[in-house]
Amino acid sequence: MKIIQSLTDYHNEYRRSVEQPEIFWADIAGDFVWKTKWSKVLEWDFHKPEVKWFIDAKLNITENCLDRHLPQRANQTAIIWEPNNPRDEARHITYAELHREVCRVANMLKAHGVKKGDRVCIYMPMIPETAYAMLACARIGAVHSVVFAGFSAGSLTDRINDAGCNIVLTADGAYRGDKIINLKGIVDEALQKCPDVKTVLMAERTGTKPPMQAGRDYYWNDELKKVNEICPAEETDAEDLLFILYTSGSTGKPKGMVHTCAGYMVYTNYTFRTAFQYREGEVYWCTADVGWITGHSYIIYGPLSAGATTLMFEGVPSWPDWGRFWQVVERHRVNIFYTAPTAIRSLQQAPLEFVRRHDLSSLRVLGSVGEPINEEAWQWYHKNIGKGKCPVVDTWWQTETGGFMISPISDVLPLKPAHAGLPLPGVQPAVMDEQGKEITTSPAEGRLVIKYPWPSMARTIYGNHQRFKETYFSTFPGYYFTGDGCRRDSDGYYRITGRVDDIIIVSGHNLGTAEIESAITEHSSVCEAAVVGYPHDIKGQGIYAFVVGYTMPPELEQEKLRQEIRDTVARIIGPIAKPDKIQFVSGLPKTRSGKIMRRILRKVAEGDTSNLGDTTTLLDPNVVEEIKRGAIG
Ligand code: WTA
Repeated sequence: MKIIQSLTDYHNEYRRSVEQPEIFWADIAGDFVWKTKWSKVLEWDFHKPEVKWFIDAKLNITENCLDRHLPQRANQTAIIWEPNNPRDEARHITYAELHREVCRVANMLKAHGVKKGDRVCIYMPMIPETAYAMLACARIGAVHSVVFAGFSAGSLTDRINDAGCNIVLTADGAYRGDKIINLKGIVDEALQKCPDVKTVLMAERTGTKPPMQAGRDYYWNDELKKVNEICPAEETDAEDLLFILYTSGSTGKPKGMVHTCAGYMVYTNYTFRTAFQYREGEVYWCTADVGWITGHSYIIYGPLSAGATTLMFEGVPSWPDWGRFWQVVERHRVNIFYTAPTAIRSLQQAPLEFVRRHDLSSLRVLGSVGEPINEEAWQWYHKNIGKGKCPVVDTWWQTETGGFMISPISDVLPLKPAHAGLPLPGVQPAVMDEQGKEITTSPAEGRLVIKYPWPSMARTIYGNHQRFKETYFSTFPGYYFTGDGCRRDSDGYYRITGRVDDIIIVSGHNLGTAEIESAITEHSSVCEAAVVGYPHDIKGQGIYAFVVGYTMPPELEQEKLRQEIRDTVARIIGPIAKPDKIQFVSGLPKTRSGKIMRRILRKVAEGDTSNLGDTTTLLDPNVVEEIKRGAIG
């Protein structure tokens, strides 16, 4: 593969990727280890939709992440694991060790009956065993479904049942700063409604000794002792499932996005090496949790397939103090640091002393992901962390895209603060107007779509191809619709302006407003609820809920009820979905056909009630006056 080193390289490669996409991707794929090569690079139809890459090829992704590195890098660190408590020792796991551990865990899964194609739920903290578990599934051709360990029992139940998992991998507990989270307890609660789960393998991290159910629950370490470390890599087809990962939808339950083996491998590797310009021997740190796509693609698969040293951090940025990230950068001489705008904004609030105390001179590249980065945060990050020298690689992408789509290329593309920049080679974005027509001139503003397939795109929603089609390929027939709005300037640079559907991004986590509404109405005093996002200084967006009770709660009881509603949401979805503001109202602004006019609620939540636009189609315009009066500033 050609590494892009200059602006001319970029333009040449980009042109080649559009004019001859199959040759372009075949060249890149040529660098990997295949058990059988493909017969054809691509088949696609965005109307069905159906996309297949590297047809008939056979491979195992772990041979590319592990075995092929052993001749040169057996003793190189693959994973640096930095524990929650800075006083505890970090671990350096070499490629040889990682290979061995993955094979052992793979054998343990086999011993518990896991076969190729089986779905395995992973509900684990940021510990090395979690990385082993994901790769072990891939080793034997099983499909992992990692559920972020901050989700509630109810969310876990839904995900386990939707994917049809019959085994769950977990840990006794998780450390998060000064807190311990009782993961096994949450699993036990979740499994009350998962009749198909027959096996739980539990790693020990916090030593909390939770109750174990005989015949179902096993200690990870005991089981591991029973197996050896030789595990040949199963042959998988290019289009076999590698993993399922759930993401919120604007309606209904979360969607299990399906990613397949070959395209995902090729693309995460290519984008990791290209956008960050990864150099041999560098230490790379992505602060995401492996429970999200960023963790899958850019803690595990991208960096490991590139033979990089990837850092996995168990803790949080605020504990023991706000200098924790910078202490880790200094301790491990991190070269590439990749985090989210919400983290940057909260770090920005802390005294600069926390930054100055640490030697950050090892840093070469900074990255950002998860939501639009505001210009102030971009400047702070660039100046105080990157000392004005490190490019800020603002990567725009999605769970559905599998890898970076629009992103600066470190040191190659000129930067514009708060812009994701230009499409990476192979990516063909377009901007659509209100009428659904492509705007071919720049500057342009509209909805962001992608016109042509790229290797790591999600292939379907697990068990619901119709929903996949409706969500992504029906708004603009023949195009993949991202759900994001954007502007493109006269240099062709894209700036993402945020979601245009009912998804809100809170501290970098996607949440469907419909899902939060449905959780709120589980509270016995609530009859109806409407949720919208509003700008929040740290979280990017906050959650504002308008709640209609069976009776209007008296002023004195409102705070108590708010707390109960928050607890209900935390129990049903997880603490990340708790509303920041709850306003009790006697009714919601609805049209005569019964549709909630969210536009009005959004304006109220934003604190802008001066011009609410046309309200004449409302069933009861008086409701709006009441809502305006009671707005929470
Ligand atoms: C938003 C995270 C602006 C966007 C990888 C997208 C961004 C959604 C950026 C996907 C960025 C992600 N600039 N917006 N650099 N990165 N987004 O699935 O709205 O958790 O559609 O994937 O996050 O979030 P997801």
